[in-house]
Amino acid sequence: MQLNLFDIEDLNNVTVSGSPHKEDVTKQQAEADEIAALRKELEEQNYKYYVLSAPTMSDREFDEKMHRLEALESRHPELYNPSSPTQHVGSDIEQRQKTKEQKQKNKENEDSVKTASGKNFEQVLHRYPMLSLANTYSESEIREWLERVYKGLDGERNVEIVCELKFDGLGISLWYEQGRLVKALTRGDGVKGDNVVDNIRTIDSVPQVIYGKTSEDVPESFEIRGEVLLPWEHFEKLNQAREAAEEPLFANPRNAASGTLKLLDTDEVRRRGLWAFLYYVPGNEVPAETHYERLMWAKRLGFNVSEHIKVCRSVEEVMDYIHYWDTARRALPVATDGVVLKVNSLRQQQMLGFTAKTPRWAIAFKFEAEKQLTRLESVSFQVGRTGTVTPVANLEPVQLSGTIVKRATLNNEDFIRSLDLHTGDHVWVEKGGEIIPKITAVEHERRAAGAQPVTFIKKCPECGTPLMRNEGESAWYCPNDTQCPPQQKGKLVHFVSRKAMNIDGLGQETIDLLYEQGLLHDVADLYNLKAEQIAVLPGFGEKSAQKIIDGIEQSKLVPWARVLFAIGIRFVGETTAKQLAHKYKSIEALREADEERLMQTDDVGQEIAGSIISFFSRDDNKRMIERLQAAGLRFFDDETGDERLGNELDGQTIVISGTFTRHSRDEYKALIEAYGGKNSGSVSAKTSFILAGENMGPAKLEKAEKLGVKLLTEEEFLEIISQK
Ligand code: IVH
Repeated sequence: MQLNLFDIEDLNNVTVSGSPHKEDVTKQQAEADEIAALRKELEEQNYKYYVLSAPTMSDREFDEKMHRLEALESRHPELYNPSSPTQHVGSDIEQRQKTKEQKQKNKENEDSVKTASGKNFEQVLHRYPMLSLANTYSESEIREWLERVYKGLDGERNVEIVCELKFDGLGISLWYEQGRLVKALTRGDGVKGDNVVDNIRTIDSVPQVIYGKTSEDVPESFEIRGEVLLPWEHFEKLNQAREAAEEPLFANPRNAASGTLKLLDTDEVRRRGLWAFLYYVPGNEVPAETHYERLMWAKRLGFNVSEHIKVCRSVEEVMDYIHYWDTARRALPVATDGVVLKVNSLRQQQMLGFTAKTPRWAIAFKFEAEKQLTRLESVSFQVGRTGTVTPVANLEPVQLSGTIVKRATLNNEDFIRSLDLHTGDHVWVEKGGEIIPKITAVEHERRAAGAQPVTFIKKCPECGTPLMRNEGESAWYCPNDTQCPPQQKGKLVHFVSRKAMNIDGLGQETIDLLYEQGLLHDVADLYNLKAEQIAVLPGFGEKSAQKIIDGIEQSKLVPWARVLFAIGIRFVGETTAKQLAHKYKSIEALREADEERLMQTDDVGQEIAGSIISFFSRDDNKRMIERLQAAGLRFFDDETGDERLGNELDGQTIVISGTFTRHSRDEYKALIEAYGGKNSGSVSAKTSFILAGENMGPAKLEKAEKLGVKLLTEEEFLEIISQK
């Protein structure tokens, strides 16, 4: 069952009724309360982990709480609730259940590359539920699991265990029909997933077509599962590029792989360089007696199966494998977070079966994140470019996973409180899978007498303005967005960035320098800069200064949609700016629109409309726009900056489905727009036609037939726009 975030409240209405003994009632109610609290906490963590990719609890702590909840629920069958996190796996299907807050955040950070917005990936039911694995952390837990296995096999102790690495990426299920890859599903909520096959096709090691030695070798239809990952090297390159482009960094390769799989731009997916390892063949289509045989079959057919698989016959052998890989994994090109143990015999697997969430024949052993004890020297508060204040721990330097750690993030005020942090405390720092180390625990017993609790500041350390916190949000922020230095610099950096005014030679460092020199305060000041003022600055000469001035001059030709994005109206990202600019041909027209009219634009809800109105009501913004207009920026659409190639598709709504040979999907999308059409993700009565490639999704096909929407081949489409 898929739990909607907004249903969490329902999970908490647990009241114990009908307890037989009065003296038990208090304990019973206390346990019921604990169940409610744990359900809520674990559900929130699932959401943070799978949807926000930003967990605030370690896996271990999560597992401990889940065990506690399971134990309590088994003592209270009367409180059974099918929505409890013990009864379902977490979900990565995000778009349909985003919180309002998250939607806003996404709008603020609109990525430079488009990610799917719900409708774009076909959702498909898994043939076999895509389950997770139970986690263990110690040898004794592994022994206990093995004992359960023996018991489940009626006392049979002759059990082979296959040891494999646990790859830290995203589960994927590949479907092959007649030897061809036809679908690739994410885990989703375990019952249904998103079909991301176009993105999976960019992975070189995933065969698109497989050829067996004999006709029996390749079943008509089969499924194989594995993990999609971004290797360390590609992850680091990606983050370097994002840093240079001033885009937010990915915290770890798993998050980067997750973000990449959901992109709509397959060329960008290919550039990022995903990998995949296959490790499980569900169903009965592939004849074999053991899991290991199936993996060797997969390897023979050309699937990427890890070399580091071992069939073990005793706990000692299993433990040797675990100990070896606990250190050896550091030299691997991909991230791993443990070892997976699987009963080898398929007959035994069948006898053991599954629980609602995990197979009984497999278990994960999680490696401990490397951690170190050090001392908290002080806490600093950093003001980000959007005004958010982040507390940072300054630590006594300590060696951790090959680097010296001096600082760690403290997230927000609630996190500091939950640690009960005092200055001078001995604290544990962990790197886990994240780049930024974090404090995971405090040694309270070692606290010096008289140590002072760490308190959150009340005023902005940059400009002295009293900080504010929105209801329901954890972050404090400085509301002085016009005069607070990091926020002013943030606006400037956004304005000159590639997707906005794209001013060559002006990056974050140069903006900082010009700002510190007093040459820039707001974006309009850029158009008063003189080459002589820049040429005398450290690191500059006449030539480089002139280049910047030329870039600024060039920016006067930037089309209206990008100017609108550049001026930085809250929540108006690149896509929204494009849509608004298309509808309102000048800033005057946009300024005059009221909330109701604004909300008629695609993607514009009350929040964005409100933000636009509030932007135009401020005098400082009015002045800035007047100055930019005087400088000659395009606050109107004269169509010359438009990438319009023709009007053959004016007023038509077109759905793209399947795979193509002449152009990529993204190129077709661009062509549709360039010829005046609108691309849509789903078939409806409004669809003019479907641009249908090979292997068109069956759901779309069915709907098209039902609604009588015609299908055009790519050749026919290219003919319409005369591009043949
Ligand atoms: S087997 C029914 N093998 O770990 C069992 N999973 O925490 C299917 N994972 O959902 C999973 N490496 O995404 C298996 N060698 C491996 C794995 C592995 C990583 C992932 C997988 C799973 C998750 C559970």
